[in-house]
Amino acid sequence: MNNSKVILKATNLTKVYPPDIWALDRVSLEIYDGEFVSIIGPSGCGKTTFLRIAAGLEDYQEGEVLFNGEKVFKNCDWRRSVIYQDIRLLPWMTAQENIYFGLENKGLPKDEVRRVGDKWMKIIGVDNFKDKYPHEISEGQKQMVGMARVCALDPDIVLCDEPTSSLDWHTRRYLQVELLKYWYNENKTVLFVTHDVEEAVYLSQRVVCMSARPGKIKEIIDIDLPKERWEVARDDLKVLEYANKVASILSEELKRGKELELKEGH
Ligand SMILES: Nc1ncnc2c1ncn2[C@@H]1O[C@H](COP(=O)(O)OP(=O)(O)OP(=O)(O)O)[C@@H](O)[C@H]1O
Ligand SMILES: [Mg+2]
Repeated sequence: MNNSKVILKATNLTKVYPPDIWALDRVSLEIYDGEFVSIIGPSGCGKTTFLRIAAGLEDYQEGEVLFNGEKVFKNCDWRRSVIYQDIRLLPWMTAQENIYFGLENKGLPKDEVRRVGDKWMKIIGVDNFKDKYPHEISEGQKQMVGMARVCALDPDIVLCDEPTSSLDWHTRRYLQVELLKYWYNENKTVLFVTHDVEEAVYLSQRVVCMSARPGKIKEIIDIDLPKERWEVARDDLKVLEYANKVASILSEELKRGKELELKEGH
């Protein structure tokens, strides 16, 4: 990975929410162009905060975040698109209109909006319910619209904040594979926040394990599995070994968090 360029670089990134909540404390992380990286860690360790800062949705006090060498500081851009856990679709627009809307905002001419939007609705499988409004479709279908919307935008990096966590088993696996294939076929970079150890290991080339209070990077695990990840069995021995390793780091952190809470009398 070292011969490709760094697309996202956080150096000593520190974020403190008022009055004194240290969400991130001098976090440094480099994401290489074309990588699939997951971030995992206890609740409240600053995963969403990191993602929101990278997306340009949140400010920070110290350190720096660079995207392709340019400073990111509260400046959103379709090149850094986010897939959220609770996908926010515009309720007065159909699935198709929601996807077209993103492309119109990007500045694409009308015929391109249709061509690109229709292509991604077809690939992700939104076609079957494209004329439905958000209140008429399931959570899984909403997440499919959200994913098609982001894929269509053709961002350089896709920032995912637990996009599969509220989905049923089948839809979850379906979207995981769609995301992997999108990443692979379109040469994208993905930064994926999750609570799920197996998901992190199965999808990623590196898993960033964070510790809480204040949020720091504890360890980064390289996952040496084929890039064509959807061809790997989920119960492959190597997958399970990596999952055990990440799980033990995570449980150490959870234990440490509990001890801290007891000490501080929470
Ligand atoms: N807008 C905010 N104002 C004040 N504190 C906040 C705000 N957003 C997050 N925090 C705090 O910052 C810390 C990090 O929050 P963050 O949402 O980034 O954690 P997380 O790792 O994404 O957690 P989870 O796994 O539960 O989603 C937490 O202590 C949280 O309470
Ligand atoms: Mg979060």
